[in-house]
Amino acid sequence: MSIEESVKGIKARDPAVNPGTRASSQRLTGRKALVTGASRGIGRAIVEALAEAGADVAVNYRSSEEKAEMVAMGAEAIGADTWTYRADISHIGEVEEMRAVVEKYFGKIDILVNNAGINVDMLFKKMDQESWNKVIQVNLNGVFNCTSTFLDHLMESEHGRIINITSIVGQMGNIGQANYAASKAGVIGMTKSLAKELARNKITVNAIAPGFIETDMVSGIPDKVKEKILAQIPLRRFGMPEEIGKAVAFLTSDDASYITGHVLNINGGMYI
Ligand SMILES: NC(=O)c1ccc[n+]([C@@H]2O[C@H](COP(=O)([O-])OP(=O)(O)OC[C@H]3O[C@@H](n4cnc5c(N)ncnc54)[C@H](OP(=O)(O)O)[C@@H]3O)[C@@H](O)[C@H]2O)c1
Repeated sequence: MSIEESVKGIKARDPAVNPGTRASSQRLTGRKALVTGASRGIGRAIVEALAEAGADVAVNYRSSEEKAEMVAMGAEAIGADTWTYRADISHIGEVEEMRAVVEKYFGKIDILVNNAGINVDMLFKKMDQESWNKVIQVNLNGVFNCTSTFLDHLMESEHGRIINITSIVGQMGNIGQANYAASKAGVIGMTKSLAKELARNKITVNAIAPGFIETDMVSGIPDKVKEKILAQIPLRRFGMPEEIGKAVAFLTSDDASYITGHVLNINGGMYI
């Protein structure tokens, strides 16, 4: 399939038709970001926050094309240029195709937000190799695939930023989530190593570790379990996706230029 045939993009905003509402003083004006897994949940909120801060945003998704296009339209209404692209980040070939299209139609990126993630939960004694591999393949190898594929864009940027969305579960473990916890702990180790390696290229690399955030990933938890979780959260509520988005906008801005290798907990005090 040629690049043109594989394009699933929304045309960049025409400033003459849609001037947008953003002020030129915004802290990410002129920066281009790619957010993986951005069709819903936390990824969606990250796109909105980056667009609010002045960035143009490429929206990656795996299957929810309509939702991804809605997210892009929302960002365009704020004034961002956007591009949507379907790619399964667990397949490096698809990530490489995404890179070619993004580079050609959207431009080279300054900011990579590795957000896409899945969970396949079960007690370890029942966990088969497929359930283990599937989660590692998306949550850990997917971060490798995207980071290595887009690394030269970030190296060329004056403002290279990598944000990896890990999880409280990677820090404290959780029953039924050995695969997920291993993948997210791996992302923390990778974040700290890359922060050291890429500092010479003036790229900062940070992770955000959300606690329990109100998205599809959490809505499937039975009510009784939710009550037990809430009892362990000092702020006595689940987090909102917007609370993650705003932190990404901060960490990718010049205000955070001396922060690298950090894991930012956004968990209502559940793990300190
Ligand atoms: N929600 C929480 O409480 C919580 C807590 C800690 C950490 N996190 C982490 O935060 C991130 C986002 O979570 P969420 O709650 O927003 O999840 P979500 O609502 O389930 O959304 C997941 C997103 O990832 C995309 N995705 C999944 N597999 C993909 C793949 N192989 N390639 C490309 N995109 C893929 C999905 O795309 P489609 O819609 O196209 O399938 C969707 O956009 C994940 O890394 C998750 O582990 C979440």
